[in-house]
Amino acid sequence: MDKYNRRKFIKTSGGALAAAMTPGLNFLNQNWRDPSDTISVGLIGCRSMGFGLLHHALNQPGVACAGLCDVDQNVLENRASDVNKQTGKTPKLYSDYRKMLEDKDIDAVFIGTPDHWHCLIAIHAMQAGKHVYVEKPLARTIAEGELIMKAAGKYGKVVQVGQHQRSGVHWQEIARMMQAGHLGKIRTVNLWANFDYGQGPERVPDEAVPEGVNYDMWLGPAPKRPFNPNRFHGVWRFDWDYGGGLITDWGAHLFDIPLWALNIQGPPKSVSSIGGIFAGGDRAIDMADTQTVIYEFDDFNMVWEHNGGTETGPYGRNYGIAFKGNNGTLIVNREGWEIIPETEDDKPIIEEVPFQEPGKRGHEFHVANFLDTIRGEAELNCPVEAGYLAAFYGHIGNIAHRTGERLSWDSGTLVNRSQFEHIITPQYRKPWSLPKI
Ligand SMILES: NC(=O)c1ccc[n+]([C@@H]2O[C@H](COP(=O)([O-])OP(=O)(O)OC[C@H]3O[C@@H](n4cnc5c(N)ncnc54)[C@H](O)[C@@H]3O)[C@@H](O)[C@H]2O)c1
Repeated sequence: MDKYNRRKFIKTSGGALAAAMTPGLNFLNQNWRDPSDTISVGLIGCRSMGFGLLHHALNQPGVACAGLCDVDQNVLENRASDVNKQTGKTPKLYSDYRKMLEDKDIDAVFIGTPDHWHCLIAIHAMQAGKHVYVEKPLARTIAEGELIMKAAGKYGKVVQVGQHQRSGVHWQEIARMMQAGHLGKIRTVNLWANFDYGQGPERVPDEAVPEGVNYDMWLGPAPKRPFNPNRFHGVWRFDWDYGGGLITDWGAHLFDIPLWALNIQGPPKSVSSIGGIFAGGDRAIDMADTQTVIYEFDDFNMVWEHNGGTETGPYGRNYGIAFKGNNGTLIVNREGWEIIPETEDDKPIIEEVPFQEPGKRGHEFHVANFLDTIRGEAELNCPVEAGYLAAFYGHIGNIAHRTGERLSWDSGTLVNRSQFEHIITPQYRKPWSLPKI
C-alpha cells in the first residue's frame, strides 16, 4: 500500500503535537464523486510558485480553474490572461481569499503566498471544506505548523505540502536505497545550500505602496510596517516577519530527504548554530547569510550549511545532500546523484555509481499526486506530518541561532520550551488571530 515506504511522524516537539496527531488519515476512503469528474481548483497567491502549481494542475485531465486570488491586481490580471491562454477560459478573480473560499464549487486550493500567510489560509480553506496544496515551508513558525497539522486531522481534507522532491523518481530511488541500508552504517549527513539570492536583496528606502496592491492584506497577520520593495514580492524570505531565510526556504526540501530516507520521526537530541551576516554589502537580511547548524542524533550527525551570495559548494555542487556511510558516500541534488564507494584491500566495498542524470518532472508529478489523492486513486507523497517535520528542522536551526542557545529534547519534548516560545508562537496583528482548532 505504502508505495514509497513513507513513515508517519509520531514523535513531536511537545504535548500539543502529540494531541494534534490523528492516526489513520485514510484518503483512499474518501468518496470522490466519480474519478472522471472535474476537480475545480482555486489559486491563492499567483505570482511565482503558485502559478507554477496551477499550470501543472491545468495540464492534467479533468481539472478546471474556478478562481484566482491575489492582493496585487497587476499579478492577478496577468495570471488571468495566462490561464485564459492555457484553457481558453477566464476564472473568477478575487482580492480576498475568504470570498473565494465561499465558492462551494471549488474543491481544492493551491496556496502560493509568502510563508506568513500559510497557516491562516490553509486552515480557513479546510474549514471551508477544501482540499489544500500548501507550499513549503508548511508554516513560518513551529506553532502554526502544529495548528495546520491539527486542522488536517480534524477536518480530514487532503493536505499536500509542496516538498515536491518526494514525487521525483530519483529521490524515491535514493530513499529506498537508504532504507535498505546500502551505504552501511550512516555516520554523517551533510546538507548545503549556497545560493546567490541567499545574501538577501539590496537595501532600498521605503516607498509608496505600488498601485493595485492591497498592502494591508499582503501583511495580514504580520506587523504593520511601511512598504519597502526589499521585503515584498519574492524577497520577503529574508525578513523574520514573513520567512526564515535559506534554512527554511531550501531547508524544507533538503532536510526532507534524510528525514524520509533515514526514517527520522521526531526532533534531534540537540541543535546548535554558528554564523552571522558575513557576506558584506548593505543587504536587507535579518538572518545569518552564513550559517552552520549541527543536529545531534544518537549515532550520527547531521550538518546544515549555507553561504548566501555564493554559488559553489562541496562535490562541485552549490546545493545538495551527502549521506556518508561506512560503505561509501551518496551525493544527490535535483541535477543528479552518484555514489563514491569506500575501499577495503583496494577494492570498492559497494559498486561505484557514476553521476546519474534524473528525470526532472517531480514538480508536475507532485501536483498530479495531490489530484489523484483527492480522487481516491493514490496516497499523498507529502502529507502534512512530513511537511511539518522538514519545516521544523529549519525553524529549530533558526531558533538556536537567534537565541544563541543549544536546544535539546528530552523524550521528544523541547527542554525549556517557554524560553523559546516568543519565536515558536507568533503574535498576530489584529484583527487576525491564530485559529483555534
Ligand atoms: N516548492 C518549491 O520549490 C518552491 C519554490 C519557490 C517558492 N516556494 C514557496 O511558495 C510560496 C510563494 O513563494 P513565491 O516565491 O512564489 O513568492 P512571491 O512573492 O513571488 O509570490 C507570492 C504571491 O502571493 C501574493 N499574496 C500575498 N499575500 C496574499 C494574500 N493574503 N492573498 C492572496 N495573495 C497573496 C503576492 O501578492 C504574490 O503575488 C512560498 O511559501 C515559498 O516558500 C516553493
